[in-house]
Amino acid sequence: MADIVVVGSGVAGLVAALEASRRHRVTVVTKAELSESNTAYAQGGIAAAVFPDDTVEAHIADTLRAGAGLAVPEAVEVLCAEGPARIRDLIAFGVAFDRAGDELARGLEAAHSSARVLHAGGDATGAEIERALVRSVLASAARVVEHAFLTEIVVGDGTVRGVVVSRDDGTLETLEADAVILASGGAGRLYAHTTNPAVTTGDGVAAAWRAGAALADLEFYQFHPTALATGGSFLISEAVRGEGAVLLNRTGERFMLDVHPDAELAPRDVVARGIAVEMAAQDGEPVLLDATALGADFLARRFPTIDAACRAAGLDWSRQPIPVTPAAHYWMGGVASDTAGRTTLPGLYAVGEVACTGAHGANRLASNSLLESIVFAHRAAADLADGVPAQAEWGGPTWLRDAGNATIVPLATAPDATTVDRAALQALLWEAAGLHRTRETLERARLRLAQWTAADAPAGRAEREDANLLDLARLVVDAALSREESRGAHFRSDFPFPAAGPARHSVSGTVAADTE
Ligand code: SIN
Repeated sequence: MADIVVVGSGVAGLVAALEASRRHRVTVVTKAELSESNTAYAQGGIAAAVFPDDTVEAHIADTLRAGAGLAVPEAVEVLCAEGPARIRDLIAFGVAFDRAGDELARGLEAAHSSARVLHAGGDATGAEIERALVRSVLASAARVVEHAFLTEIVVGDGTVRGVVVSRDDGTLETLEADAVILASGGAGRLYAHTTNPAVTTGDGVAAAWRAGAALADLEFYQFHPTALATGGSFLISEAVRGEGAVLLNRTGERFMLDVHPDAELAPRDVVARGIAVEMAAQDGEPVLLDATALGADFLARRFPTIDAACRAAGLDWSRQPIPVTPAAHYWMGGVASDTAGRTTLPGLYAVGEVACTGAHGANRLASNSLLESIVFAHRAAADLADGVPAQAEWGGPTWLRDAGNATIVPLATAPDATTVDRAALQALLWEAAGLHRTRETLERARLRLAQWTAADAPAGRAEREDANLLDLARLVVDAALSREESRGAHFRSDFPFPAAGPARHSVSGTVAADTE
């Protein structure tokens, strides 16, 4: 029996904890309450080829196509092939997916060739999954430590030995472990506008970086096309467009018809950029999402969470189009990990959004993220079934060792740097490393970021988060600068097309030479 620490309590962390605690002593640490995570805000659903008119092959093909040449086929195949079994696991854990008669109900989302998105509570899929898994974890043998902020991954003799966490009163505590499973999510809070909750500050990615694990493809941040533009960037699920809602500019034109043959259901990066261009042409004014044709009863029944949010904002979306704008949503990049969740650091696993398995390539297919979390969390726990693999067996994913990949070397801090200001950092990233980037905006951001430093001896949670966001902002900007092409979510106005030849990954950190 091994000691395993799981960091994070979204779907990935909870599934890892449930599976690993069948054989090992597991401690789940989470920086807020157990139920607070990005998962709980997921609306649209979870994609899997579970219907008779669908196939795993079709799901694989859609995922690879959305990934814009950068998706790692092995990871995509695992994701799609194991999805149906993991959906059955969720049902066994008590997740109540919506039903249409005796069948599971399903929705269509952008760039899927088939309606394969399962949902729960209409548009409260993440909340329902989180509810069922939290209940299961509390009933399991896993120990839960809330309000424990990951400050350090402890490494000794080249392998992970545990973590240091900071409690809300600033006390530091070391938790020894034979393996650590990072499941701490993304970093939407890098950006001024995000659909992510306040906890998403990339703490796991930053800690893994400091501990020496390789990170990959950090320049690929996905912007969701439709967040409510009334302040707060509340997510308006892609499923709304899947049900037939359309996008209009301020003169009432359906502008996406001129952008892509699939119009509102084009891949997410295409729709987000289409909206950004249209907003620029109308002096920054948000575009409109028109769901009025769907009718008040349907909207309230199918999308109760969004319906309530619109009404709280004083909008009746059954009668009037609502203002929407893109917002940072999901990080395709992260801690480089293989299909068992192993990173380049022996003893460290990464699963869910914190990880970069390559399954999403340059642009994640809608509703593949909850699926990724359960599939790879399950695999990480399975990899640990007989104990932690020996140090010599850890090399990280094979695709990371490709000689064509770019190595990112981050800029040092300037000697006269001042303490970072989070709001200014978020505004900087939105402007310089958002939906459109150029060498000029990125170079300027790079210099500005070098003039900021973390607080001396950060003690509180906010200061620690700021330090993480600063490290990650530098890495994102450096990776975006090094990629002189446009691909998926990374759009460089000065290099508007994909580079010729095979797509390469960008790598931050050290990767062992391929010994094969
Ligand atoms: C949505 O409901 O549009 C979000 C789903 C996702 O990001 O996969």
